[in-house]
Amino acid sequence: MTSKLEQDILSRRTFAIISHPDAGKTTITEKLLLFGGAIRDAGTVKGKKSGKFATSDWMEIEKQRGISVTSSVMQFDYLGKRVNILDTPGHQDFSEDTYRTLMAVDSAVMVVDAAKGIEAQTLKLFKVCRLRGIPIFTFINKLDRQGKEPLELIEELEEVLGINAYPMNWPIGMGKEFLGIYDRYNKRIEQFRTEESERFLPIDEDGELAVDHPMKVTSYYSQAMDDIMLLNEAGNDFSEEKIRRGELSPVFFGSALTNFGVQTFLETYLQFAPAPQPRITEDEQFIDPVEHGDLSGFIFKIQANMNPAHRDRIAFVRIVSGKFERGMNVTLSRTSKSFKVTQSTQFLADDRETVDEAVAGDIIGLYDTGTYQIGDTIVGGKKTFQFEKLPQFTPELFVRVTAKNVMKSKQFHKGILQLVQEGAIQYYKTLHTEEVILGAVGQLQFEVFEHRMKNEYNVEVQMQPIGSKIARWIENEEDVKESMHSTRSMLVKDRYDNLVFLFENEFAMRWFSEKNEDIKLYSLL
Ligand code: G4P
Repeated sequence: MTSKLEQDILSRRTFAIISHPDAGKTTITEKLLLFGGAIRDAGTVKGKKSGKFATSDWMEIEKQRGISVTSSVMQFDYLGKRVNILDTPGHQDFSEDTYRTLMAVDSAVMVVDAAKGIEAQTLKLFKVCRLRGIPIFTFINKLDRQGKEPLELIEELEEVLGINAYPMNWPIGMGKEFLGIYDRYNKRIEQFRTEESERFLPIDEDGELAVDHPMKVTSYYSQAMDDIMLLNEAGNDFSEEKIRRGELSPVFFGSALTNFGVQTFLETYLQFAPAPQPRITEDEQFIDPVEHGDLSGFIFKIQANMNPAHRDRIAFVRIVSGKFERGMNVTLSRTSKSFKVTQSTQFLADDRETVDEAVAGDIIGLYDTGTYQIGDTIVGGKKTFQFEKLPQFTPELFVRVTAKNVMKSKQFHKGILQLVQEGAIQYYKTLHTEEVILGAVGQLQFEVFEHRMKNEYNVEVQMQPIGSKIARWIENEEDVKESMHSTRSMLVKDRYDNLVFLFENEFAMRWFSEKNEDIKLYSLL
């Protein structure tokens, strides 16, 4: 007999949706929430153009740029499963938060625009998923418009991303002539734009449409049948095992805007998406969501001032094992301090509500007054441990930063320290003069930094761009000499006092490596 807690944990499905901007991530999220009954109207998820949810002070930046800086967590129940969707900021100026969110999920859904195929941003996020070996499900969107040939899209997916694909369904026609999808997995045809009662048509043992239907005599139908024959004969075999290991991506076609294929996707996805997975500790113990028994979790994101009236920070915790109950005692492993958690929150779109209970797989938010850092572990039991470090991502953009008013130096350093701990930005300093250099994955992080320094710490900063650099850490620091520092290969220290070279470009890095063969450079993710 399984316990109630075990059933609860095993019902969780926690995933992120990744996509290149405009592929349709928001639209599909909205449809998923509609199916789950979490929202009643379309148009609730984003106030992108309507500005409906202008609640956080970051909205200033969001409004100006028409993007969503913050990412939230959405939860709903569907067919006996509790689904947690973690949103990832997908603008080209996305930040490390986007990457880190992928550390907190058990699978990912990749949305691809059928007309554009695999785009740069998707590729970056996909790589992080691959690194973690998490299952990736693909939704090829916008079939109601003319796009690339389906076979071409599958080929591109496999080539560019280096993953095998298994089309779970296949489009019949496209754009104006989009008739529906041939559902290989559920063995039926789903018609586009039709009465609900005629939505599904059966297929016979030979895989042909089993009823007389005008679709059968169209060239789109014969083309789809030819393609499917090819896939059956020469395509990949379906393997649940490979899906679980992230080696085979099930592919679904559909049109999120017209709400076509999304429900079929959700239902099939929930059959194969993994329940909460174990995580590894620094001393290489596996913490199983159910068997470990006690509560444990890690902080993957800290977000400030979601509500400007409260000036609070929220630490996002992915629960790894056990159960969280409001009012319980937890220990922060880094400091070994124990405290009672009375203020906790769960997220639904933009509404926050107090959470009393949550289990492994769920994400909760803890009110933070400066206690937490990214990567912190919290435990509920007596035994403390630390989950494996979250990866740090190699920044590509750098600025030199100073306070406009030297009298504000104390607040300046305090602000920087806190924002660095939140993971909003990466901190470096020059060797002797200790000038502050900040690194980021996307330009937006600097803008958020400047805005928050002014609004939260009352310090106006001066940022002098030093442009994009290639940052490389050093395996054998003891062999580094200060004479290796130059304008093309700047030597700095990171926040942990590790030495880092900031190379001007690829050429400068190669030149350096040729001159200094004994210096072993490495990059973070
Ligand atoms: P994102 O979150 O990935 O950035 O994409 P989002 O859902 O905002 O969708 C980007 C644009 O693509 C939107 O149009 C949206 O309506 C459209 N779209 C999404 N799914 C489909 C689809 O299946 N078919 C078609 N034809 N279009 C789709 P927009 O004009 O930029 O925004 P809006 O005015 O509709 O909000």
